[in-house]
Amino acid sequence: MADLVSPVGRDIDRVEGRLKVAGAAEYSADRRVAGMLYAAVVTSTIGKGAITGIDTAAATAVPGFVDVFHHARPLMALAAPPGPGENYAPLQDALVRFHGQIVALVVAESPEAARDAASLVSVTYRAEPPRTSMDGNMPGVPANTPNLPPAMVTVLEPRFPTIDAALAASEVVVRSTTRTPVQHHVAMEPHGALAVREGDALTVYTGAQMPIVQATRIRAKLRNEPATVRVLAPYVGGAFGSRAQPWSDVVLAAAAAWTLRRPVKLILTREQVFTVVGHRGEVRQTVRLGASRDGVLTAVAHESDAELPFVSGWPMRPADDTSAVTYRTPNLHIAQRLVMLDRPPTWAMRAPNEAAGAFALETAMDELAVATGVDPVELRLRNSATVAPATGLPWSSKHLDEAFRVGARRFGWSARRARPRPRIDGQWLVGVGTAAAVYPANRESSSVRVRLCADDTAVVSTSISDPGTGAETLLAIAGADVLGITVRRVRPELGDSLLPPGPPVAGSSVTASTVPTVAAAARNATAQLIQLAVTHARSPWHGADPAGLSFADGRLRGNGRAMTFGRLLSTVGAEDVVGQAQTVLDPVKAGQFMFHSFGAHFCEVRVNRFTGEPRVTRFTTVVDGGRIMNTQAAHSQIVGGVIFGIGQALLEHDPVEPGGRPASANLADYMVPVNADIPPIDVHWLDHPDPELGARGIGEIGTVGSAAAVGNAVFDATGIRVRELPITLDRLL
Ligand code: MOS
Repeated sequence: MADLVSPVGRDIDRVEGRLKVAGAAEYSADRRVAGMLYAAVVTSTIGKGAITGIDTAAATAVPGFVDVFHHARPLMALAAPPGPGENYAPLQDALVRFHGQIVALVVAESPEAARDAASLVSVTYRAEPPRTSMDGNMPGVPANTPNLPPAMVTVLEPRFPTIDAALAASEVVVRSTTRTPVQHHVAMEPHGALAVREGDALTVYTGAQMPIVQATRIRAKLRNEPATVRVLAPYVGGAFGSRAQPWSDVVLAAAAAWTLRRPVKLILTREQVFTVVGHRGEVRQTVRLGASRDGVLTAVAHESDAELPFVSGWPMRPADDTSAVTYRTPNLHIAQRLVMLDRPPTWAMRAPNEAAGAFALETAMDELAVATGVDPVELRLRNSATVAPATGLPWSSKHLDEAFRVGARRFGWSARRARPRPRIDGQWLVGVGTAAAVYPANRESSSVRVRLCADDTAVVSTSISDPGTGAETLLAIAGADVLGITVRRVRPELGDSLLPPGPPVAGSSVTASTVPTVAAAARNATAQLIQLAVTHARSPWHGADPAGLSFADGRLRGNGRAMTFGRLLSTVGAEDVVGQAQTVLDPVKAGQFMFHSFGAHFCEVRVNRFTGEPRVTRFTTVVDGGRIMNTQAAHSQIVGGVIFGIGQALLEHDPVEPGGRPASANLADYMVPVNADIPPIDVHWLDHPDPELGARGIGEIGTVGSAAAVGNAVFDATGIRVRELPITLDRLL
């Protein structure tokens, strides 16, 4: 029989795609169980202060009302264990830490009754002025965070005492201060959970990125009262970082089910998601570049002040994965600070440090191109790094220069006219821009189980989830590839905290982490199959030398005969064989190499001469992402990442009113790109499997630098440099 073509590196449809488009995939909010109660939350309407009174009389009169909880009528004692996320537990005290904080929880027999009753809860406050502006609260404190390298990095040539001296000795210096705003993940599936208590066990259905992490955190927040917490997330309607840990909605659903001993479903309204769930923080960055007259960098200084709320969240360090690892420079200075504000928690959002950092660095590089008269692509090639400036380590694999050359050709970059000769087409000013993308190629420890079944199917199990990334299909592809069977004969099993621990579904690490582990687990399963074949009395290979048997194309072969694994299992009367594997990180490799994926963006924008309206009209992205497992899913990831960047560049922000209220807590005011905002996006892969990693992650890299490419194109079109995102039309008039 002819060998099956490997599914790796081809367009493979999502294995769960039909279920999703048919509405048959059950997300956590879709799930119903007998005896279920519904919960709704009341959120604070001041930005800082304390609750002075809560009147629940009107709420209790609503038909179907069951109970109401708040700090003075506690549901149960909750903990704020150290670790990621907020530093407080909901409904434990009268303190209001930000606008939109949960201050009461209503439980009722129907979702309508719960929301109706919640709307009738009347809360009075003693308000204090919140710290809401970055400007009034500068400068920040150093962003040193546990388990991370210091927030200050300075590498200087001996002849320079300071970075300022290195800059002063440079022939050309540009200084660029940029601001990137609050952004929200706005995953399609609203946040929430259904929690079910059975005895001393709690089961929580919630759209978790990492079921085991969520289960552990939920149990810790419930002061470890449940003996076990199981999290189930078979389908997740988008995450982008927002579902990496449980927010107060999940904790309260779990606490209510635990206390009331009835299943409780709590789904936030869209408006509540904007404040209960952490957001991408606001950042101000100053990048100073020193260079020779022909554009060769002599000094890079990158300083940032990022919002870190009083309730904590994600401490942004935007230079870590941009200026520290992108361009060759003999003098480098990085200082990352945090500014404490009374705002909802910040949190990691797709390329959390890199999206902000690359906007600052790649905008400054464009300013250097203007200052030196060097073509922006040529400038990046001239400053190409072979070792990372902050560590001096080489990369496991790096083809960023090729990405720029290939991208320039595909995009038609050579047709660009150097300023000052803008292109005008009717009522449109036309400009082009470029930017580099660098994102860490994270690989984490992971465990996988592969079960070969008597019906000639295989089950690949690990506790990751698929928040829309294509991870479920990836497990099927990886299993099918090693076993030599069709993708359809592999059943992925994921989204359950009881499965073998997978890698974090974060940091674009799933592909690089799970593919080798799936392969190892599959080989472990086939080795056991061979053992079974030579030891079982009913096996045709009984008593044979195992060395004479081999497994390929889903079949065991040896001594002139072949049999599918399912056939052998049924012949011997076995249901299955189960293989396991765990891969752990190699600390030696980690000390020898830098691991990153790379990309080059090319963007054409048209800016209306009369209205100032900017439109992105062409986009090309070339990605050096190692071996590409599923070209279709990978294409979608890069397109999605670039769309994120276009949204960051032109549309998304959420100004905070002086009282602390986010001004755009809904999808009418908070603008995300729609189809009409997005041109065809040309995505191209460089085919260079990483010698160390094989496949690398690509889920976030499309977001890195894409906003800068847009901004640089806007400058090329108009001569106006907008350093504060988003670039709205009023800034281009
Ligand atoms: Mo993602 S922002 O690495 O969860």
